[in-house]
Amino acid sequence: MSPKEMVVEEVVKTDFAAAEVHYKNFCAGCHGEQMQAFVDRQWKKGNSQEQIFASIKQGIPDDGMPSYDTTFTDQEIMNLAAYIRSGIAKTDQFKFGETKLTSNIVATDEVTIELDTMVYNVEVPWSMQVLKDGTLFYTERQGALTMLKPDKTKVAITGVPAVRNRGQGGLLEIELHPDFENNQMLFLSYSKMKMVDGKEMGTTAVIKAKLSGNALTNVEEIFEALPYKPTAHHYGCKLEFDKNGYLFISVGERGFEKEHPQFLDNHCGKVHRIKIDGTIPEDNPFVNSPGSIKSIYTYGNRNPQGLAVNPVDGKLWESEHGPRGGDEVNLMKPGHNYGWPVISYGINYNGTTFTDKTALEGMDQPITYFVPSIAASGMTFVNSDRYPMWKGNILLGSLRFNYLHRLVMKGEEVVKQELMLKNIGRMRDVTQGRDGYIYVSVERPGAIYKLKPKVRS
Ligand code: HEC
Repeated sequence: MSPKEMVVEEVVKTDFAAAEVHYKNFCAGCHGEQMQAFVDRQWKKGNSQEQIFASIKQGIPDDGMPSYDTTFTDQEIMNLAAYIRSGIAKTDQFKFGETKLTSNIVATDEVTIELDTMVYNVEVPWSMQVLKDGTLFYTERQGALTMLKPDKTKVAITGVPAVRNRGQGGLLEIELHPDFENNQMLFLSYSKMKMVDGKEMGTTAVIKAKLSGNALTNVEEIFEALPYKPTAHHYGCKLEFDKNGYLFISVGERGFEKEHPQFLDNHCGKVHRIKIDGTIPEDNPFVNSPGSIKSIYTYGNRNPQGLAVNPVDGKLWESEHGPRGGDEVNLMKPGHNYGWPVISYGINYNGTTFTDKTALEGMDQPITYFVPSIAASGMTFVNSDRYPMWKGNILLGSLRFNYLHRLVMKGEEVVKQELMLKNIGRMRDVTQGRDGYIYVSVERPGAIYKLKPKVRS
């Protein structure tokens, strides 16, 4: 071991607690409470022990980083640098480096998985739904809906609404009616375009349709988020049925955090609940509040990219993207405020802070959160007999770090986490089909895999 590393080791053993206090008192105001969010960055001055030491001691006056030469002793600065480096190590656990996924047989903690390739080299496969007989429906963001038959032949579905295929928008989620086998009813969310004063604007909208052969018929819009915005990101778009047959819809804050999520007079930065004809359930939390949008179920959400109802108790769970750091997994309770952008475990993409608060009265805390942000996308509960070892677990896809995240739950508490299928690709969706299999979709190149559990010998 080199002497430098020994210094780090030594400090880790001796004075981490003091460094943590110094960080909170002197640094958190600019770099954020969550030191890990701060270290999740492109380093300008380098991130070795010496380089971090120099940044703190001398400061970076031209960029607004003060010098701490007269505030701390060299030993204290060394401790701070080591503390920051411990955060870098924590962040690095998500960078799998060369652990390439080279085989379709992948070991996980509790079961070996064989990846069965359903489709390969498609555009961005945003969302999937699977019938009991294995028929798979998937959307591609550019605007295509495809039915993949059990023999893997593709059927293009016509009658899909025109989408605003820009930025993060396009054809987004597909959800099948719980009784689809009998009524052939399905739901699509997408980014809808409108010209306002010669300017292109977009929003999140949802249609209901009936599948007749290979065509959507009786297409009817049942939800439109207001207001329309010029931005092309944070549409939200997730769809999920509750046990009463009502539909949950997530809408992102559309990049307008100050205007939208904390106010009930607009649809953005919320999760909504509607009946399938677009009308409002009588027991929605804000049906009797004047000036409020009646479909709102929860608010203070940033960009929810996962919605899943626990099949055991019917409770709604959500995952949402934080900024730099602070992706959340939340248990959604009607009428509750999830705090964005007033409380957050993340900081701005440019390294400055949004807020110095992680908790406040009247705002729900996440069940768990991710620093650094894994960019959680897609979410499902496992209750299929095909995966007895994962029953009751929550699965989340990671867009940013290209893997499948497993949360082992005990009630509302996360008791274990596993990073699975490392380097499979930018994971866009994960779902448990009605055939009991789990499917994941990834981007670049776009592919869908069925996860077949293999019996271990
Ligand atoms: C007044 C705001 C402010 C405070 C307080 C502050 N910093 Fe900074 N710090 C900055 C800015 C601005 C930069 C420039 C880099 C950037 O764009 O983030 C910076 C840069 C750094 C860098 C170099 C990062 C790189 O990319 O190489 C380190 C290390 C650092 N700060 C650590 C600390 C520590 C430790 C403390 C507390 C002792 C602290 N800072 C307090 C604003 C601040």
